[in-house]
Amino acid sequence: MVFVPELIQKKRDGISLTAEEIEYLVNGYVRGIIPDYQMAAFLMAVYFKGMSYEETTALTLSMARSGEVMDLSSIEGIKVDKHSSGGIADTTTLVLLPLVASAGVKVAKMAGRGLGYTGGTIDKLESIPGFKTQLTKDEFLKNVMTVGAAITAQSENLVPADKKLYALRDVTATVESIPLIASSIMSKKLAGGADKILLDVKFGKGAFMKTYEEALELAKTMVKIGYLAGKEVVAYVTDMDQPLGLAIGNALEIIEAAEVLKNNGHQDLRELCVRFGAEMMVLAGIEKNLIKAQHVLEENIDNGDALTKFKEIIEAQSGDPSVLDDYTKLPQSTFVHSLVVDEDCYIKDVDAFKLGVCAVRLGAGREKKEDKIDHSVGIVLGGKVGDKLKEGQAYATIYANSYEKLEDAINMVKDSFQFSKLPVQKKKLIYARITLESIEA
Ligand code: URA
Ligand code: CA
Repeated sequence: MVFVPELIQKKRDGISLTAEEIEYLVNGYVRGIIPDYQMAAFLMAVYFKGMSYEETTALTLSMARSGEVMDLSSIEGIKVDKHSSGGIADTTTLVLLPLVASAGVKVAKMAGRGLGYTGGTIDKLESIPGFKTQLTKDEFLKNVMTVGAAITAQSENLVPADKKLYALRDVTATVESIPLIASSIMSKKLAGGADKILLDVKFGKGAFMKTYEEALELAKTMVKIGYLAGKEVVAYVTDMDQPLGLAIGNALEIIEAAEVLKNNGHQDLRELCVRFGAEMMVLAGIEKNLIKAQHVLEENIDNGDALTKFKEIIEAQSGDPSVLDDYTKLPQSTFVHSLVVDEDCYIKDVDAFKLGVCAVRLGAGREKKEDKIDHSVGIVLGGKVGDKLKEGQAYATIYANSYEKLEDAINMVKDSFQFSKLPVQKKKLIYARITLESIEA
């Protein structure tokens, strides 16, 4: 007979729990046998005492098994999934999916909606007229087999333990715990059924992890969980102090993704996508050498193959692919307003968090769960940290649908930027690459 207060006490006193004890807690909580107040006390004990890699893996596996687990075995080859820990204007998935599919990587991607001030790929894709984000399991698998990639909203029954635990963490100040974040993310990845996983752990003003050290620890924990659960995981630690690329918003990020695939996009977004894509090709066993894989992907951008693949993915999910050639077919905002610099200067700082909040206020994200997204609104930056602007040049353009919201956004965007007359160093984007070997070394 397991006595829940004893398990809470054990963790409170810093003693490790066994896999069976953790399984008992997760199962009991999901089935409603263990009440919120006991689980909340347990989560707070984890927050203060942490968990070993073995405990975190046991937690992850118990959570992953709490609902449906995808079976991708009918798709031939090694399936690779990619996940970002969440950030502002993280347009990566929209570029990466067609890019790697054009090079033969099979991707069965389950994606989420926006969370807090961070955007969600599913919301972005719904800017495209007709695009279906709820595929049946058969449609999903068939599209991966025929087109090479498919993307669908997470099914309701994927990791119910995470839904329940996340809601409890949200109201008990226990979100910012590395074992709890790692198990939340990895349980969903394991239930998603891919063979190998590429993780992008972001840190900075616009991310859950505020410092490099925390992000590094989270990355290592997830690589280790993957290993203990029998899946190869490669994790990157990347900057999220300033937004990724230039566009923040749903339709605006569809345009941004198309521009990268047309060889016109912002360099930092392109660099990250080519690098991640190369990692996915190597993980999938399609290419051995990272540099060679990057060359293949650069070529598929230059020759238009990746853009064509994006159109195929859109068409296969009932969307209108011609939006990529004619952006006016995407939702348009009533107001478009540019903010300009009044002298020659360099961009010194761009606060991703403030811009993320601003985009949500404009309607690009949800303030309450029931809120409807406005796909047309957002912000497009005129440059990034270190870029030089000439007098009269725009440093940001705001897309809004009401005059009041535009006025608020103008103040918030102004407050998000700092300028300097002296040259400013550009920011590093990729900080670390974590593999099992790099942890053990
Ligand atoms: N993303 C998740 O899926 N879970 C967390 O706990 C934090 C970020
Ligand atoms: Ca972006």
